[in-house]
Amino acid sequence: MGIAIVLILLALGSVLFHFLSPWYFTPIASNWHAIDTTISITFWVTGIVFVAVAGFMAWALIRYRHRPGGRASYQPENKRLEGWLMVVTTVGVAAMLAPGLLVWAQVIEVPHEAMVVEVVAQQWNWSYRLPGKDGKLGTVHPRFVSDANPFGINPADPHGQDDVLAQTPELRLPVGKPVKLLLRSKDVLHDFAVAQLRVKMDMVPGLVTYSWFTPTRTGSFDLLCEELCGVGHFSMRGRIVVDEPGAYQAWLERLPTFAQAASRAPGNAVAGKALYATCAACHGAGGEGNLAMNAPKLGGQGAWYLERQLRQFKLGARGTHDKDVFGKMMAPMAATLADDTAIADVVAYIGTLPDARVAATIKGDVDTGRRRYATCAACHGAEGQGVAATQAPRLQGMSDWYMARQLKNFREGVRGAHPQDVYGAQMALVAGMLADDAAAGDVLAYINTR
Ligand code: CUA
Repeated sequence: MGIAIVLILLALGSVLFHFLSPWYFTPIASNWHAIDTTISITFWVTGIVFVAVAGFMAWALIRYRHRPGGRASYQPENKRLEGWLMVVTTVGVAAMLAPGLLVWAQVIEVPHEAMVVEVVAQQWNWSYRLPGKDGKLGTVHPRFVSDANPFGINPADPHGQDDVLAQTPELRLPVGKPVKLLLRSKDVLHDFAVAQLRVKMDMVPGLVTYSWFTPTRTGSFDLLCEELCGVGHFSMRGRIVVDEPGAYQAWLERLPTFAQAASRAPGNAVAGKALYATCAACHGAGGEGNLAMNAPKLGGQGAWYLERQLRQFKLGARGTHDKDVFGKMMAPMAATLADDTAIADVVAYIGTLPDARVAATIKGDVDTGRRRYATCAACHGAEGQGVAATQAPRLQGMSDWYMARQLKNFREGVRGAHPQDVYGAQMALVAGMLADDAAAGDVLAYINTR
């Protein structure tokens, strides 16, 4: 009797949970209502069967419970009952599978008016490529991949020259227009998944997989990698922003083409020297950094990273948080650089500065730090040398007190919380693994030995 009550409560509880629980589909933002319907049909079929089986077991337990003198009778065959069970099972299984096949036929058949976007995944970030005016994407090959050509676009292919490159985890799309995604991975298995768009597709190195959808409302949706792809998997996140066509067009026009990115003139160090005079007051004439002025060492840092941070400061994505006392001091300094050319010039000059090792100021347990650093090494490099491809700046030989403060800022949401600071957001997730200043100190003590 007890078991029968448990079975009934289990069936009842499951049904109530299904209808009352707040955890259900996220509000849909694409054309894929058919996918939701298919899942609902599966819930109905499995739900009815579950309640029927649990109910039957409970009924049998009560109806045929032990009674003194009761005897079981043996009934091996029942053609009519078996016939009914077969028909009901067939209908149930067909009801679960057939709608899925119909939807799958739509999933693999891309409407030909769909715009094409290539999504490139690598440990642990996302980037995007759109065809330019000619409407065609250029060919790519891994042998062309370099820091200057992260997409590996064939420089000899005329179709590739006008390809538009979005080297950021954020992709914008116009609302109401079907999009075909060409999904490519540079290293290991990844998976492109956006819950609100009901899109989820594996990315396989050596293959180009695809998927499509039509965004039906504007908004910002989290893109998650849903394939375990290494220690940084949890932080491999991007963002799909669905815009009105005008805002989308404005975003598109701000992006460089492959030809523009390749022909971008390097910064002028001579022009940069004059601009650097402002920086020198705090960071030192040799870019060696100054703890008393809270200005970190710049000499030897990757140009791509310095440029990005200067742009972030100018944009307000860094140095605007109330608690970011020193970032707020840097923001007006970055604002004195008029444009991207000025930024490139000053960074070119910083590139000529000596790269002298700075004195260690942080103490910690080097052995513990070495073990913890394994996670950092995946992006920043085994020696903390910095890796442009993973968007991770150099740590080795840089100001440790500055890194300690940034780790704390990341952990406490002072840095990396601004919606435009997409790489900072990734670092904020990772910094959370160093629970306190002591854990961060161990890692920094280890970095100081590199
Ligand atoms: Cu990429 Cu998980």
